[in-house]
Amino acid sequence: MVEADRTAESYVAGHGLLDGRTAVVTAAAGAGIGGATARRFLEEGARVVIGDVHARRTKETVGRLAEEFGAGRVHGTSCDVTDEAQVAALFDLAEQCHGGLDIVVNNAGLGGTALLTDMTDEQWGTVVDTTLTGTFRCTRAALRRLRADGRGGIVVNNASVLGWRAQAGQAHYAAAKAGVMALTRCAAVEAAPHGIRVNAIAPSLALHPHLAQVTSGMSS
Ligand SMILES: NC(=O)c1ccc[n+]([C@@H]2O[C@H](COP(=O)([O-])OP(=O)(O)OC[C@H]3O[C@@H](n4cnc5c(N)ncnc54)[C@H](O)[C@@H]3O)[C@@H](O)[C@H]2O)c1
Repeated sequence: MVEADRTAESYVAGHGLLDGRTAVVTAAAGAGIGGATARRFLEEGARVVIGDVHARRTKETVGRLAEEFGAGRVHGTSCDVTDEAQVAALFDLAEQCHGGLDIVVNNAGLGGTALLTDMTDEQWGTVVDTTLTGTFRCTRAALRRLRADGRGGIVVNNASVLGWRAQAGQAHYAAAKAGVMALTRCAAVEAAPHGIRVNAIAPSLALHPHLAQVTSGMSS
């Protein structure tokens, strides 16, 4: 995301909306929505546990945020959402550090560009494994734990406008994001009786330095 100027008068300061809550955010060590979500949650008073497949950046992000918001409020571990054991370890960390969790943001998702006729099984599988199956795995883990705690909670799945729009070269990503939306609807119906809200968001373009780099030179 384009870095916010937090000193600007227009920047909205936190209102303590998440005071006392614990949030888990996946794929939160990058330059985009995950990292921005973790930061905003901290600004709103939450304790945050971040995961990301990139171990070094996870450590650096935790260090940076801990310096700013206090070590006791930020923890993290490397977590690849395609790996069940690593997902379990991320949720375990939230329990160890804060005795449970209240909010889970399933942010991890991967893209790529290939026309359907050129798309390999590997390209399809990589995008679907992280974007759809990873969201399934993390939603399942979140609901199991939130239900066991019995205190309700919130799960937010990061989909995309491509879940309902068409774009050449995006069949794998669009199909995976449509799947995230369908998964979210079914999960919401199952979780509601337990006081757990499950929603998806569908961002359009949220440009950040890494995305700008990987999309530069691509035709629109
Ligand atoms: N940025 C956009 O324009 C945009 C638009 C619509 C939807 N989205 C969705 O928002 C989410 C975040 O994307 P973003 O572009 O803002 O970047 P981001 O910085 O939030 O996420 C990128 C991070 O994901 C991590 N990651 C990649 N594979 C992973 C895996 N298997 N397990 C755990 N972490 C992994 C990377 O290491 C990187 O740090 C994605 O689901 C994406 O599809 C983004």
